[in-house]
Amino acid sequence: MCGIVGYVGEGEAQDIILEGLARLEYRGYDSAGISLLQDGALATCKRVGKLAVLRTVLETTPLRGRLGIGHTRWATHGAPAEENAHPHWDVAQDIAVVHNGIIENFQELRQELEATGIVFRSATDSEVLPHLIQQYYQGDLIEAVRLALQRVRGAYAIGVLHRGEPEVLVGARQGSPLILGLGQGEYFIGSDASAVVKHTRQVIYLNDGELCKLTPAGYHIIDMTGAPARHTPSTIDWDPVQAEKEGYPHYMLKEIFQQPEVLRHALLAYVDSKNNIEMPDLGLDSQRLAGLRRIVIVACGTAWHAGLVGKYMVEQFARIPVEVDLASEFRYGNRVLDADTLVIPVTQSGETADTLEAVRIARTNGAPVIGIVNVVGSSIARSADGVIYTHAGPEIGVASTKAYTSQLCALALFSLYMGRIRNTVTPEDVATQLTQLREIPGKLEQCLEQADAIAACARKDHYMHAKNAMFIGRGVNYPSAMEGALKLKEISYIHVEGYAAGEMKHGPIALVTPELPVVCLAPQGSVYEKVRSNLEEIRARGGVILSIATEGDDNIKTISNDVLYIPACAEMFSPLLVAAPLQLIAYYIACGLGRDVDQPRNLAKSVTVE
Ligand code: F6R
Repeated sequence: MCGIVGYVGEGEAQDIILEGLARLEYRGYDSAGISLLQDGALATCKRVGKLAVLRTVLETTPLRGRLGIGHTRWATHGAPAEENAHPHWDVAQDIAVVHNGIIENFQELRQELEATGIVFRSATDSEVLPHLIQQYYQGDLIEAVRLALQRVRGAYAIGVLHRGEPEVLVGARQGSPLILGLGQGEYFIGSDASAVVKHTRQVIYLNDGELCKLTPAGYHIIDMTGAPARHTPSTIDWDPVQAEKEGYPHYMLKEIFQQPEVLRHALLAYVDSKNNIEMPDLGLDSQRLAGLRRIVIVACGTAWHAGLVGKYMVEQFARIPVEVDLASEFRYGNRVLDADTLVIPVTQSGETADTLEAVRIARTNGAPVIGIVNVVGSSIARSADGVIYTHAGPEIGVASTKAYTSQLCALALFSLYMGRIRNTVTPEDVATQLTQLREIPGKLEQCLEQADAIAACARKDHYMHAKNAMFIGRGVNYPSAMEGALKLKEISYIHVEGYAAGEMKHGPIALVTPELPVVCLAPQGSVYEKVRSNLEEIRARGGVILSIATEGDDNIKTISNDVLYIPACAEMFSPLLVAAPLQLIAYYIACGLGRDVDQPRNLAKSVTVE
């Protein structure tokens, strides 16, 4: 969702900002714009559509300057249109602002500003900001921003320039992410580290309620009272190359193929050679963990599916009741929380607004919070008591793939760790499970080796040109069915439902016709026979069946139109393996239909507004 980049220094601001915006494209957007201080005046260029459209205009009429801000906008208030694109400016065109978030009291502020004669140009909530800052401006931009923001309710990350302060870039954050990049004689702001990593690995994660003033000579951070705030810079530990396609046609495909390596990395990070699971950053001691009575996992989308699999794992190994809540439901659900209920937010970005709010609610109600998070230093990682990083590296494709399997791996390790603390599994049990978990990356490689066969299957007419489809599974692979369905629908735009196979007879079987492909998760395990019965029922009604089964299960061919195989594995870890064919089916169908796989329509990678 909306990306912000700002620059002050000796370089060409336009090039640096465009490059930073390109790195933020993955967040999802529908228009883009840039403002520079050029020859003492604000010069702005905005366009609807992809960054390439803006870039083409700027190639013929470049903006020149050493101070600037840029923005990619994901429309909330007001359609994707040039006048709604950022930056926005005040009447005198002294101040330019880019904003990510939602200003909840913008109607009230807008009416107040309009009453003073100000005519708004856009339908956005964001445009109140430059007008409001202008009202407070008396020669000191950061002070005017500080005073203006005291009038604002809602979430924001902003970047601000003033024509009269040619070497000053101001940023502020409340509820939406903003980082500072620290260079030599040059400073940056960005929505995340990928915006600045080409220029510097030294970053500061601004906290909520903080503002920063950047000049070529240095930076200064204050809080909302104006008091200085102290920060120790962090070093980004990943290489910019990791955020590139590296020869793959899409980020999504690259990220699917990275999964074995990601899982190996995660296992190495948490398990030593003697099969001890070490989780040093949980923030709660063993006694507190052992005394927990309940766990609530909160997450959105794919991360929620990972949480659903996590419930099976934690209940199996640690024998503690687990509820899994959608963060958007949890936040308004008045849930029962206490000091003995552990809340686990699961999130790739660590910035999802609903999940972040769930963390706040949990903490306010005295519940301990341990985040399962990918992005180091993200808001959720920093606001939880403890964190289990998933070590997936930057995930750029909007459809989550490697982040999902790394979340499954983290949940598997956490459940075994909790099992030991609670004495519900023996060290021998843990060793057996870890042996099986360590085999998963190699087995995942075997699944990925079948990519060509999976592509050929996915491209068959009855799958690729289906109007509707259904994914079904049972037990630990019921969430896998939902995840497979989400993957396909979000990148192919085919209407797909993920269902518990045992629910078919309770309604959905009415949909089965020879036009309805049903993707069935049928690996060997405790519910295999049950799934087979469901398949027979679908077959009897003429449904087209694509089964994902365990190698050696030749018999399933008799009731399936197509079968894709995964290697035999422990049932509890099978969601990690079935993920690969599910992701590849979605990927190849979407490619075959000519969809924008990495940036599907209407979607944003990091959902930083409610
Ligand atoms: C789907 C997908 C989304 C995210 C969801 C939560 O492929 O990626 O459903 O899983 O928006 O995002 P995070 O994990 O960043 O909290």
